[in-house]
Amino acid sequence: MTHIRKAVFPVAGMGTRFLPATKSIPKEMLPLVDRPLIQYAVDEARAAGIEEFIFVTAAGKGALEDYFDTAAALEQRLTDAGKTDALEALERTRMPEGALAFVRQNNPKGLGHAVRLAQRLVGDEPFAVLLPDDVIRAPQGALSQMVAAHAENRGHMVATMEVPRAKTSSYGILDVSRQNGRLSFAKGMVEKPQPDQAPSTNAIIGRYILEPSIFGRLANLGPGAGGELQLTDAINADLKEVGVMGFQFEGERFDCGSVQGFVQATAAFALDRADLHAELVAFLRTRTAPLRQVA
Ligand code: G1P
Repeated sequence: MTHIRKAVFPVAGMGTRFLPATKSIPKEMLPLVDRPLIQYAVDEARAAGIEEFIFVTAAGKGALEDYFDTAAALEQRLTDAGKTDALEALERTRMPEGALAFVRQNNPKGLGHAVRLAQRLVGDEPFAVLLPDDVIRAPQGALSQMVAAHAENRGHMVATMEVPRAKTSSYGILDVSRQNGRLSFAKGMVEKPQPDQAPSTNAIIGRYILEPSIFGRLANLGPGAGGELQLTDAINADLKEVGVMGFQFEGERFDCGSVQGFVQATAAFALDRADLHAELVAFLRTRTAPLRQVA
């Protein structure tokens, strides 16, 4: 059984859908309740046993790198003030020294390009990729579920979810040959097909476990959908030699790359919190009551 030790987090995107908020802060620093988006992906990776965290960043992402520093002065002030709850909140974000690495993507050439830039840091072992925009609320982290399934089935593995046919052009879509419980075996995959061209409605969600052979495919990749270097195309090119599985994770996925999805995720995670639940329910009831008169 191979231990998955390393994870790549592509975080170079500009976050234009969140302008003007993202004019001066990276999208990954927007708070979902009280944790920045990136923390959800990092926590999921830590829970899955990841030890090395590789961020593919870009210009303007300084706040994201700073976020992982130890805030020594702040911690001292909180200690002096006896604010133990706040100290604990910081403690939960502490990463082991040397566990984080940042590579820079100078040109936004697509997800495939971003993952390729992590090659030197990943080396010759299977690794995970997490797209922080996809936030998954689950009893057991989605990546943990995948790591367990991957231990018994080598090959590339992508998280999957059923989507409405009208939405296939927002996703990588699998052409499934065989289904076995949560696992499916792909005979092809295509990035962002139109609904009438899509081989199925089984969509890729932003969690991957990839064999190192992917780097050879990424090196030889031509532009795909949207003129970008697509990770989906590289996985597809490796399909016959390495095999590709879809893993239908247990959990609920929020598309936090869209404002709609971000707001819904905020509500869902706030409702999960014992300290916020009751007041939020009461508030939403007053706002959504059918007889409410809007002036
Ligand atoms: C990326 C992948 C796509 C996948 C999606 C999941 O697309 O290219 O295959 O289905 O993430 O969120 P993006 O949403 O970055 O355009």
